[in-house]
Amino acid sequence: MPFTRRSFIKATGAGVFLPAIVGRAWAAEGGAPLPIPEVMDLGGGTMGELTAKLGRSQMLQGMSTETAGYSQAFSGPVIRMKRGETARAKLGNTIAEPISVHWHGLHIEGALDGGPHSPVNPNEVIDAALDIDQPAATLWYHSHIMDRTGMHVYYGLAGMLLVDDPSAEAHGLPSTYGEDDLPLVVQDRIFDSNGALVYAPRGPSQMMGYRGDEILVNGAIRPEATVPAGLVRLRILNGSNARIYHFGFEDGRSFMQVGTDGGLLPSPAPMNTLTLSPAERAEIVVDFSDGMGVRMLSGPDNNSPMGGRMGGMMASPQSDANGVFEVMRFAINAGLTAKVTTLASSIAGAPMPDFGTPMRRRSFQLNMMGGGGMMSGGGHGMSINGESMKMSVINEQIALGETEIWEITGEEMLHPFHVHGTSFQVLSNGGRAVDPVQTGLKDVVLVDGKAEILVRFDRTADAATPYMYHCHILEHEDLGMMGQFTVT
Ligand code: C2O
Ligand code: CU
Ligand code: CU
Repeated sequence: MPFTRRSFIKATGAGVFLPAIVGRAWAAEGGAPLPIPEVMDLGGGTMGELTAKLGRSQMLQGMSTETAGYSQAFSGPVIRMKRGETARAKLGNTIAEPISVHWHGLHIEGALDGGPHSPVNPNEVIDAALDIDQPAATLWYHSHIMDRTGMHVYYGLAGMLLVDDPSAEAHGLPSTYGEDDLPLVVQDRIFDSNGALVYAPRGPSQMMGYRGDEILVNGAIRPEATVPAGLVRLRILNGSNARIYHFGFEDGRSFMQVGTDGGLLPSPAPMNTLTLSPAERAEIVVDFSDGMGVRMLSGPDNNSPMGGRMGGMMASPQSDANGVFEVMRFAINAGLTAKVTTLASSIAGAPMPDFGTPMRRRSFQLNMMGGGGMMSGGGHGMSINGESMKMSVINEQIALGETEIWEITGEEMLHPFHVHGTSFQVLSNGGRAVDPVQTGLKDVVLVDGKAEILVRFDRTADAATPYMYHCHILEHEDLGMMGQFTVT
């Protein structure tokens, strides 16, 4: 029972983050078939049921791992919602502590957003009714309890959420779920020698964010997907607590990015490396028509304060001399018919954002220190604008429907800054202008020194259930790099 406070302490009883434990000489066996999550379709008035529970999962060969999930042992179903409809679900909780269901990326009122003020308490059932009105997009949902989000997500309280838009023009992208349209939830974890998940952020692993040395995709270690010899759409969610991935293929093949956090891009963007920081999503289309299987890899995550000198203290997967490691593999099944073989040069149905003229600027400084100091032990050592997150403090009040420019600066390392309740557009990052055609609508921006975003809220959030902005390195969030705002 890793979730009760007592056993949580037991689970992390190793006390300190010992490199001897994490820097294991062996890697678990990969290559199991990619699990395709079940779909919970909340279209057409269907009432869904999402109950947080503990379970046991077979992640390592011959070992059983205690995990948590929504209506399943680990993670949750892929939920589908339709624009123009109301998605309904009963949210339950059989775990001995409060959890929540935060709809990351959905444009819904603060009261429905599932943040820290909206827990589902043990044995409670809450009816959620969400009016969906936003472009088709790959989103996700996860628990979001004050101080506990990192642990909840790590054990499994997170899943993918797809918004479909029947009113949009047909986009022509592969869309046969589980065949040429695959959800990929990428997460890194640490296991002990008994197969138990280890979550023990302390010192450097808390400061830099907790990273694992085994890579899971949809809950399986470095799995293998079987795909048709044609175009395949991958909806990738970086569901890791802290790791930044730089995805690419072993043979260097290029692929097209067709979607980002908030929906489709107006035109496919060719690339051979895709960087995704925690909570970011991308939809890419990969051409497998050469019939060749290939491994998907990632470059190392060098995100570290103190000029990178702490980087060596992090757990990382077995990698080559350049730090490159395997994420998963793709095998071709010639027996599957490729349904889509060409991609148009522009994507029909992509959102055309119109933010209007900004009325004001607001600045946010993401502080690694504050409120007593990071290394002082306990408490909330990180902050935004010098204020560590407090449930009772509303940090910003924002006017409904008024466009603003937010200027975010990050200290020491890169921070994935996330805003609830809306999607935004990145104007600049790291001192360079950003091309909106390449980046589209976002709800997370990996702040490289300084970023500017154009943002507007079209839903309200009151002081009882405010929206959050925060760093999505979950250890930073749990340490207080988060703030609250109302929209009225
Ligand atoms: Cu993905 Cu405030 O959350
Ligand atoms: Cu969110
Ligand atoms: Cu951060």
